Amino acid sequence: MTELDALVTAAAQRFAQAHTPADLENAKAVYLGKTGEITQQMKALATLAPDEKKSRGALINTAKQAIEAALNDRRQALADAALNAQLAAQALDVTLPGRQRGAGSLHPVALAWERIESIFGSMGFEVADGPEVENDWFNFTALNNPPNHPARSMQDTFYVDLNDTQGQPYCLRTHTSPMQIRHATAHAKRYAAEVAAGGTMPEVRVIAPGRTYRVDSDATHSPMFHQVEGLWLGDNVSFKDLKVTFLNFCRAFFEADDLRMRFRPSYFPFTEPSAEIDIQFQSGPLKGRWLEVAGSGQVHPTVVRNMGLDPERTIGFAFGCGIDRLAMLRYGVSDLRLFFDNDLRFLSQFPATGS
Ligand code: PHE
Repeated sequence: MTELDALVTAAAQRFAQAHTPADLENAKAVYLGKTGEITQQMKALATLAPDEKKSRGALINTAKQAIEAALNDRRQALADAALNAQLAAQALDVTLPGRQRGAGSLHPVALAWERIESIFGSMGFEVADGPEVENDWFNFTALNNPPNHPARSMQDTFYVDLNDTQGQPYCLRTHTSPMQIRHATAHAKRYAAEVAAGGTMPEVRVIAPGRTYRVDSDATHSPMFHQVEGLWLGDNVSFKDLKVTFLNFCRAFFEADDLRMRFRPSYFPFTEPSAEIDIQFQSGPLKGRWLEVAGSGQVHPTVVRNMGLDPERTIGFAFGCGIDRLAMLRYGVSDLRLFFDNDLRFLSQFPATGS
């Protein structure tokens, strides 16, 4: 091997050891730079005789070209490696599913609530809304449940350490029944004006869904729960209307035309007579069992009076129904607490729109 061949081999090895472009440029300088090996050889030509100069020059040139070729190969190899590393780092799997923003879903209680409003809406009921922090008058006394009445113990609640301007203590409402009084009194002047003008007493037909509170907590009771109040008053509204209205509602709500319903005698201070309403499915997992879903009754004359209406002219019924209970029955949920745990594995099973 000639000395020039050795030089080419050494250069190629040196280039192979360069792992960055900067290393490679340093290695290049050793051979091709101003004071590099090849450049030295070229300079040495000057000392040779003309014909020797020619043949020696050709050999040096060949060696120089070989070194340049090795340099370019190595440059290319380093550039390829850099590109491959970059591609690997930015690897993109176009077959992966895209990242979507969760559409969310409606809470089962909200679904039931919407359903209740739309079904009663189709039967001509308007929807009213009222305060959850209620005063003692609306929550108890106006509903024929005065202080020290034993029926107050049926509904223990949370009291707020504050009285309203009339000295009435505030509490978290134990039921939606105060909305009977609030709604009727809010419209009493209009009713009275229509009657005074020779008309008949306009009908009150309203539901009031909302949150309610009691000191109660187990698998079927939560300190906060949801009720829907129903009130239908007129000059000739009877228990028959209550039965038809509530049965039609339940059949529509559960999409069960053969659903059966029964009244069970009960007691509430604000209705007389009073009844619990039970329903019975004729098919499905709950088939044959009587399930209590509401309290109801004919509105007590004292309550009608407290609404600013004349109990001799106005009669009707009210009911109070647990929305959570309806949602549990409709969606087959056995533990009420699932509604309030906010576990997405449970909540995401429900649809995003009303059903
Ligand atoms: N408010 C009663 C309760 O929560 C239910 C009810 C409402 C009963 C209307 C009769 C009439 O238990």
